[in-house]
Amino acid sequence: LAGCSGGGEGGQAAAGDDAITVGFSQVGAESEWRTANTRSVREALAAPEFNLRFSDAQQKQENQIKALRSFIAQGVDVIAFSPVVETGWDNVLREAKTAGIPVVLTDRAVNVADDSLYATLIGSDFVEEGRRAARWVIEDSQGKQGPIRIVELQGTVGSAPANDRMRGFKEVIDGDSRFQIVRSQSGDFTRARGKEVMEAFLKAEGDNIDVLFAHNDDMAIGAIQAIEEAGRKPGTDIRIVSIDGVRGAFEAMKAGKLNATVECNPLLGPQLADLIREVHAGREVPKRVMVEEGVFTQDQAEAELPNRKY
Ligand code: AHR
Repeated sequence: LAGCSGGGEGGQAAAGDDAITVGFSQVGAESEWRTANTRSVREALAAPEFNLRFSDAQQKQENQIKALRSFIAQGVDVIAFSPVVETGWDNVLREAKTAGIPVVLTDRAVNVADDSLYATLIGSDFVEEGRRAARWVIEDSQGKQGPIRIVELQGTVGSAPANDRMRGFKEVIDGDSRFQIVRSQSGDFTRARGKEVMEAFLKAEGDNIDVLFAHNDDMAIGAIQAIEEAGRKPGTDIRIVSIDGVRGAFEAMKAGKLNATVECNPLLGPQLADLIREVHAGREVPKRVMVEEGVFTQDQAEAELPNRKY
């Protein structure tokens, strides 16, 4: 099983005999957000009432499907996972249901024909995050004449956050005829790809880019490097908004290189642990649990930085 490990290592208390065995399949380690999310889940499920089996899918759906099948074969009590992409889960989730193992989705949604295949989803409203980014762009562009040319760094192709953020952003931006999305491409939620794709955007568009919308902070941080290397000033020549609100984004805002970040809270561990307890006990849980979030701009960065928990 790719990257599978127990939760009891690292000096944590051993799980008791009647502990809830949880098979957790994580997307990977693609971003600062993901690292914080993994830490939060591991910490919450390190309590002796849980016995965590953790698997890292390295951003590949096939690894994740293998991990879920292995959890089913091991007869874990509950499966929790953050799906890399939205589609292609019907069969394996049906197998879990047939085996009587409840499934809790965390962070990302799935697109399945029968939604009784999972118990609940806890995570952010990604469509609203996209809308918030677009509202910031509109507010920031007050008094400016069109055309205002936007480039978009998308997340992993087919993932819920990429699909939804793109949808929410477009929905709002399409209402103002000054804006044109001139380029959109996936940077797979990583810094390295964000930088590479931004280099290609700059090559193709030259000085004709006014705004960058990045689906996460890591890609924005990679793109900032590309913009600087191209001799332009990120945050000034190109206005930049991204999503997550990780520490690196606050540092970039403090340095004047990123203009705004839309918060996406990765600290889902404690709520996930509660939901796992509930579904294991056979109690009714809401089908969708939302996370409360805000938007932060450059002028708030310095004061807010010490309060950031991820
Ligand atoms: O699913 C949440 C997204 O995945 C975060 O915005 C991104 O940073 C991560 O990789």
